[in-house]
Amino acid sequence: MAHILDDISRTFSEYLLIPRLTTKKHTVKNVSLTTPVGKFKQGNASPLSLNIPFVSASMQAVSGPELAIALARCGGLSFIYCSQAIEAQAAMVHRVKSHKAGFVPSDSNVKPDASLTAVIDLVKKTGHSTIAVTHDGSGTGRFLGILTDKDFWEFEDDLNSPVSKYMTSKENVVFGKEGISLHEANLLLRQCKKECLPILDARGEHLQSLVFKKDYFDHRNNPNELLDAKKRMAVGAGVNTHDYKDRIPALLEAGVDALCFDSSDGFSEYQQAAALWARKQYGASIIIGGGNVVSGDAFRYLVERADVDFVKVGIGGGSICITREQKGIGRGQASALLEVVAERDRYFKESGVYVPVCSDGGLANDTQIIIALAMGADFVMMGRYFAMTNESPTPKVSMAGRVYKPYWGEGSNRARNWQRYSNGDDAGFKFEEGIDAYVPIVGSVRDALEVTTAKLTSTMCNSGALTLREFAAQAVLTRISEQTFVEGGTSTVVSFDKENQETA
Ligand code: IMP
Repeated sequence: MAHILDDISRTFSEYLLIPRLTTKKHTVKNVSLTTPVGKFKQGNASPLSLNIPFVSASMQAVSGPELAIALARCGGLSFIYCSQAIEAQAAMVHRVKSHKAGFVPSDSNVKPDASLTAVIDLVKKTGHSTIAVTHDGSGTGRFLGILTDKDFWEFEDDLNSPVSKYMTSKENVVFGKEGISLHEANLLLRQCKKECLPILDARGEHLQSLVFKKDYFDHRNNPNELLDAKKRMAVGAGVNTHDYKDRIPALLEAGVDALCFDSSDGFSEYQQAAALWARKQYGASIIIGGGNVVSGDAFRYLVERADVDFVKVGIGGGSICITREQKGIGRGQASALLEVVAERDRYFKESGVYVPVCSDGGLANDTQIIIALAMGADFVMMGRYFAMTNESPTPKVSMAGRVYKPYWGEGSNRARNWQRYSNGDDAGFKFEEGIDAYVPIVGSVRDALEVTTAKLTSTMCNSGALTLREFAAQAVLTRISEQTFVEGGTSTVVSFDKENQETA
């Protein structure tokens, strides 16, 4: 007969934290959000730690190089998606590793005969108002000049005119050449009182990158950057249980810092075989995460039998996920996480080895992120959250007066990532486990994370914790009734939003 678990599958929104004593040392400034990614022995440090407990999902609509760079700059890590050719994924990893902080490839470029209308469209698409003018309209073409939104008046000038009429041409542009250091470039920007410095090749002809004054201040405000030992941006990558013998070497060659199986159900001999193969080839020098799982025995299996470095928890909770409807498998994310965290702590007590746990998917707001960390997740993986930012790899789409970005599941017909859903055979794609949707834009990764970390650190102070380990160790949570949930929203007051004011 089937075994029925005693517990009810619970979600994060069913819990609230009870404040603990806040002492005078519990200030936001004193809080550290550093957290381990790779397993480690008691008393040792983890081989890789994040500066904020957030990683981005291995998904086509989420983790491309631009997001990976933005997230690493804030102290987190992206897992570049594996539902693409091995060479393409390795090239993305390479792009992140070769990103020279401060030198950005120009992504808004036009030919000199492009119209101002084309420029306006481009600015809307990329969100960047500094346009490089090159002979072929590419980011590495022969440099001819610069155009910014200050060079023309959208409602006064003839928008059919060519860019060449309004741009600052090369002879009047201050530029740097290949080999210039960031320090020298910033000095030049300061001396010339400019906002942007184009960097050309050694012959002073072709565009290579741009240095912006605003990035200088950004960098100074950015002490959390996640860098490797060579001061390059840290980046992760997803892998599957099919082509790992080719994919893993290519990703390591490109300089990847952490790998993670991208599988909807990681409790399998296929994942064990792939993880053990990687360990045999590379020993302890690599970090490889296993998952996804939703039970303590699956955690044990991956740790003891597959020798993985961290374990990812979550089946069926993702915002675009329909696995539970389609196949009837999964578990409420809070219940799954609590069981796996308890097993992790038991394993730590027995063996002295701490295996970090990642809560993956279904985090619908900042409160749920906070509850997941309070319940003992070492870090959280998010798709929707990062898909909503300027830096995710999808284009902006305007609908009914609001700007959105497409966001689709890896199990959707659009992604066709059948490797994520099938372990052993090459069965191909027979039914969907994810949907194809849109999410509203929220702004930059930095802006989004600033708000989330402000809420998290504030709650940690309320809970009398200065580190995430302390937070989880002393968190007291209560389950809430539906009535408590209602009470938590605003009630019996009139909110004077715009609509009310207009109808008053
Ligand atoms: P989100 O943060 O709620 O959007 O969930 C993202 C997570 O959903 C990913 O990290 C994956 O674990 C999972 N996921 C991605 N694509 C699919 C899908 O098509 N079906 C089910 N789960 C998915």
